[in-house]
This record gives sequence, structure tokens and C-alpha cells, in this order.
Amino acid sequence: MTQDQLKQQVAEAALEHIPEGAVLGIGSGSTIEKLIALLKQRKPEACVASSVKTAELLKAQGIEVVDLNDCGQLELYIDGADEVNRHLYMIKGGGAALTREKIIAAASKEFLCLADQSKWVETLGKFPLPIEVIPMARSYVARQLVAMGGDPEYRSGVTTDNGNQIIDIHNLDLTDTQQVERDINQIAGVVTSGLFAQRAADKLILATPEGIQIKTAMYE
Ligand code: 5RP
Repeated sequence: MTQDQLKQQVAEAALEHIPEGAVLGIGSGSTIEKLIALLKQRKPEACVASSVKTAELLKAQGIEVVDLNDCGQLELYIDGADEVNRHLYMIKGGGAALTREKIIAAASKEFLCLADQSKWVETLGKFPLPIEVIPMARSYVARQLVAMGGDPEYRSGVTTDNGNQIIDIHNLDLTDTQQVERDINQIAGVVTSGLFAQRAADKLILATPEGIQIKTAMYE
């Protein structure tokens, strides 16, 4: 089974986890694009979009897109991930939408993550960690991340929906995940890191060649 087929399966499996008639937060990426194509079945009242592209796709389906400022706490946020572990900590931001994704996740009661098997990892960090930075701070932030043990790489040619830049950090030790997330947040010029540990997912729907698995966070 291809990764694309697994993404389709997880999108289909997600439908029964989405309440009918709700205001939903909707993430970004190819998995979520497959969900958007099916979402009308759940008759959402409206959606808050985590990227310009997601907003366009939702509107193309005839789904109303609203500003987060016009909503209270959202019932549910649904998004993909680049990596997810058994604590349902994630690396996100492969599509550069991490800041709006983190804001909507924080503003939602529940975070439902949709992933195919390739995203399920024992240890986070093989996928380089995206960091959104204010453009003038890019080199400064990169030097601070070198001091933390990482190898930064500028994602050349990419401007986020917020007008900022992305650096991808390789080889950073993410074992103490929540602390690393806090430490990166303290660096002047960082807008958001793609580590989602302080606000992890609440539930994961994982598509594997053996079938769909539903996972909640495991704590040792
Ligand atoms: C975008 C994201 C996406 O959720 C992540 O990149 C997964 O994308 P895909 O579903 O295309 O594999 O964080 O910023």
C-alpha cells in the first residue's frame, strides 16, 4: 500500500471522530487536503484554517472559513504531523504552516492528529525541526541553535503566510522534548518551533498497512 493510499484511509477514518455541525480547526498538508475533500459530510458550521492554502481548499468545498478571533474555544483541531511518538508529541511544519497550526491547537479543546505509518517514530528528530523566525533574526537564531547542538539549514525561497522565514534544525537532541520546546521559545526572533509537546495531540489516528489504529498518549 502506498503512503498516499494510507493518507486517504486515515482521512476517511477521521470522519467518525468529527462531531457534526461544529466549528473546527483545520490544519495543513497533503493528509489534511484529503480530509477537506470529505469534510462536507460532517456539515461543519465553519472552519478556522491554519494556512492560506487550507482556507482556499475549504472555500472551494463550500465550507465557511472564519477568523479565530471571532470564535471562542474550538471543539476540535485536526491536523497531520511530520513525526509523532507514543506521547503524541509531534514535529510539524514541513509545510511551513507551524505558527498558525500551534495557535489553533492551543485554542482547541481537543487535538486529533492524522498520520500514516511513516510518521510514527520511537524518537523524534530524524525529520529536521522547522523553526519560523523573523527574517532579520535568522542568523542569530541559527547561532543559538548551533550552541544547543543543532545543525541549522535555511529553507531557501520559502516565506511563511506570516511573512517570515524557516530554518530546519538537524541533529538536535530532543529527548527532553518539553524543555527543548521551552528553550527554543526563549530565543529572541523565534516565532514558533515545530515541536508540539507542551500542546501534544490528544488522539492519533494512524493508518498502517495492517489497518487503522487509534492511539492516546502513553506516559511512563
Ligand atoms: C504543515 C504540517 C503538516 O501537518 C505536516 O507537514 C504533514 O504533512 P503531510 O500530511 O503532507 O505529510 O505540519 O506545516
